[in-house]
Amino acid sequence: MQSIMDESETWSRSHGTNSGPVRIRNRPKPTVHDEETEDSEEEATAAQLLHDHSTVDVIIKSDPETPPEMDSNLRIGFIGAGNMAYGIAKGVLQSGDVPSSNVKVSAPSARNFGRFQELGVAVTHSNAELVSSCDLVFVAVKPHLITTILSEITDHVTRKHIIVSVAAGVTLATLQGLLPFDTVVLRLMPNLPCLVQQGALLFSRGTWARQEDGDLLRSLLQHCGLVEEGPEAWIDIHTGLSGSGVAFVYLFAEALAEGAVKMGMPSALAHSIAAQTVLGAGQLLRDSGKHPAQLRSEVCTPGGTTIFGLHAMEQGGVRAATMTAVETATERAREMGRKSAPTATENRK
Ligand SMILES: NC(=O)c1ccc[n+]([C@@H]2O[C@H](COP(=O)([O-])OP(=O)(O)OC[C@H]3O[C@@H](n4cnc5c(N)ncnc54)[C@H](OP(=O)(O)O)[C@@H]3O)[C@@H](O)[C@H]2O)c1
Repeated sequence: MQSIMDESETWSRSHGTNSGPVRIRNRPKPTVHDEETEDSEEEATAAQLLHDHSTVDVIIKSDPETPPEMDSNLRIGFIGAGNMAYGIAKGVLQSGDVPSSNVKVSAPSARNFGRFQELGVAVTHSNAELVSSCDLVFVAVKPHLITTILSEITDHVTRKHIIVSVAAGVTLATLQGLLPFDTVVLRLMPNLPCLVQQGALLFSRGTWARQEDGDLLRSLLQHCGLVEEGPEAWIDIHTGLSGSGVAFVYLFAEALAEGAVKMGMPSALAHSIAAQTVLGAGQLLRDSGKHPAQLRSEVCTPGGTTIFGLHAMEQGGVRAATMTAVETATERAREMGRKSAPTATENRK
């Protein structure tokens, strides 16, 4: 497999301020990446796939037999020291492929630095300094800060860099428009359980990101949870399904517990059992590979308690309400993406 980082080749960039020699990937002249060529084509393909029951089969998977070659000197930065940066940093370090001395985090205040320092991660208040000293940079700040922060770092971004944004609703076009032409950008949508390495993460590659960049990201994130790649059109859906979906599950867990409290169980015990029920059901669903309807029917004794309860849930419209929740959250993510879009053309170099 081709080396991700090639000591023999340096490739400086006229618009960058990093003039010193840098280790960079052996990257040929940038081209639009293999799978997608035109945004409209990509969206049409994704739309078609979304109407196809076999969608799950077309998620781009890397070959587990040929994991990407990891450069142990790869330096990883996090702009933003919040929950998402911390969850991803913990997962990245768990792989053991990247020593904590190669990881740095930046934020304006020191209030979130302590937990990173406990991991052995360096801290700084300068985003520019972080970018200059890192190869792969996760941008993990709130979406409304993306324009300010990318404008601040753009002069420090060179062809050696891989920029990974986790900002909800900020499109690849916007990100690319705020960074130097042909910057390698990936858009990653994690969810909160990344904090306990049980996240569900979906990423899309930008125009100049190659398969090996995706493979590198997947490899780095392997301990954060499930990591999949798909077309960008799926990112907003993933936000509705999994980013927001976590909160939908919490609401359900709360309701389960409150049902038990209503029937006389102490609250603490009810919440603890509800949490374990959600966890156990989720683990069985994931590990069995069975369709949820099949598992559900396996719990239903004819005329028994579960089918009575399920009937009540259907009468309450849980299924329709949940589908609408995912739909509404997805639409909201799309709307946020559209709002961030004009900046792209304004800032493209
Ligand atoms: N949380 C989730 O479940 C979730 C799921 C999917 C995607 N995301 C995305 O992840 C991103 C981060 O979310 P989060 O929950 O981790 O947010 P968070 O906990 O509020 O953390 C935000 C971090 O950004 C830092 N920050 C603010 N201004 C900055 C600046 N100018 N330069 C550098 N850092 C700056 C903050 O610094 P201080 O420490 O000084 O306050 C803080 O550390 C968001 O874009 C969100 O859309 C979150």
